[in-house]
Amino acid sequence: MNSEFNDFYCKHYGDRWPLLLESLFKESHPIELRFSNSLQPYFLDEASQFAAKCLDVEPGMSVLDMCAAPGGKSLVIASVLAGQGSLQCNDRSPDRRIRLQHVLENTLPVEWHSNIKVTGYDGSRFGLYCKGQFDRILLDAPCSSERHVVQSPKHLEQWSLSRTKRLSVEQGSLLASAVDALAPGGLLVYSTCALSPFENDAVVQKILKKRKESIRLVNISPWIEGAEQTPFGVHILPDRSEGRGPIYCAKLEKVKS
Ligand SMILES: C[S@@+](CC[C@H](N)C(=O)[O-])C[C@H]1O[C@@H](n2cnc3c(N)ncnc32)[C@H](O)[C@@H]1O
Repeated sequence: MNSEFNDFYCKHYGDRWPLLLESLFKESHPIELRFSNSLQPYFLDEASQFAAKCLDVEPGMSVLDMCAAPGGKSLVIASVLAGQGSLQCNDRSPDRRIRLQHVLENTLPVEWHSNIKVTGYDGSRFGLYCKGQFDRILLDAPCSSERHVVQSPKHLEQWSLSRTKRLSVEQGSLLASAVDALAPGGLLVYSTCALSPFENDAVVQKILKKRKESIRLVNISPWIEGAEQTPFGVHILPDRSEGRGPIYCAKLEKVKS
């Protein structure tokens, strides 16, 4: 075990860390998403489905999934829109976008396809070019993803404190862009699958300070079993949630000026 990794999380999670670490090695229990018998199913962790549902999408809305690939949460959003409104599924990575396209085409009913577009922009540019455009934005940000890190000796070796700090800066600029691209009265969900404290509440706390005139924190409900309230959002961790997660999410509303 990378001792810098172990010490960092042990310091943050205290006595809980050994059991939390053990739970990261256990299999998660994804739930099937299937929209008809003739289409392929997609399996997605219940905590990830919860994060997408927190966005409170309604049919007819204009929705941006800023970091969408491989597309699990986009499917949840598309199923609520059910062909009414629009969904832009964006991801900067060309390889992951190919997978995203396949997932959307193979899983969703054909009559919903025309309302969905896949793009490959850098998410941090939306605030500049699409100011105030979207009713709902999901920012499922690139993050440390410790469940994957602990299961990969190579990634565990590469983990460093500076990496999680770097990611938190990137997440902050994506979140600022999402705030700017949100329409007045619109809702935004910021989510990660990170355990690192730098990448969750700390990112939300910073944006609330920076944009205190234009956004407010919204309480997350309904609840999912094992979810823990944090100062700014909700954390679902596998040791207390029967293997679900990790997922952190926080919800923000753009105030009408
Ligand atoms: C946590 S994954 C998203 C998972 C996806 N929401 C799902 O539920 O299937 C984060 C994604 O962000 C993408 N990404 C990283 N930096 C980005 C950026 N600056 N702009 C847009 N996408 C980015 C990565 O390629 C990766 O696919």
